[in-house]
Amino acid sequence: MFVVAQISDLHFDGTTDRRKRVAAVMDYLNGRCGGPRNIDALLVTGDIADEGLPEEYREAVEALSTDIPTLMTLGNHDDRTAFNSVVYDMESCSEPVNSALRLDGLLILALDSSISGRSDGYLARGTLDWARTQIAEADPGTAVLVGFHHPALPIGIPFIDDRCQLDPALLAEFIDEHPTIVGTVSGHAHTPAATMFAGRPHIVAPGVASTLNLPFEGTDVVNTVQRPGVAFHLIDDGALTTHFRGIPS
Ligand SMILES: [Fe+2]
Ligand SMILES: [Fe+2]
Repeated sequence: MFVVAQISDLHFDGTTDRRKRVAAVMDYLNGRCGGPRNIDALLVTGDIADEGLPEEYREAVEALSTDIPTLMTLGNHDDRTAFNSVVYDMESCSEPVNSALRLDGLLILALDSSISGRSDGYLARGTLDWARTQIAEADPGTAVLVGFHHPALPIGIPFIDDRCQLDPALLAEFIDEHPTIVGTVSGHAHTPAATMFAGRPHIVAPGVASTLNLPFEGTDVVNTVQRPGVAFHLIDDGALTTHFRGIPS
């Protein structure tokens, strides 16, 4: 069985509050959970920075330091050029931040659904073709977990449902081609949620920085009493089971 921890929507902005929430989650993963002894990978699904500033990514690099193999991709609050410069030392690079982690029996893909200057998202044909190549190069039958920032479908929070993926049909086509995909996981909505997309589980990670209200939970956008959260994805025998945790900060 594989364990993939997913965190999302860290929104580093230079404040102590944001740093404390991320630190609590990372302490939980590295300490109580045993870090790489028990967790095979850490997947960070975007909105790492609040304004896409280099100094926010420098905060993130320091705070996310861990021995757990880590993949990161971007959200609508991120900036590809700043991220690539700080994290990968690539100057003037605005290419999508896609990455893959191959384990013996599991392939994890982190795909960039951000669109510069917009809050909705899009998994471009080039990104999906890159993902196709990664799957083709994996051993036959390898389970695949696909992560990105924007949910592929509305999930019942109007503020977010207006800002999902622009062309989910392209993603559905990609999923249909690959029966080894155990599910897709996203962020952006700042709420732990589970649904189905293209016949597979589609899991939305809780937000680390904050949680958003459902329409019946109150009139404020942000639910201020919720803890930062993490999703633990267990992948075994081609099936995905997800557990959620709220971490005191
Ligand atoms: Fe966010
Ligand atoms: Fe977002």
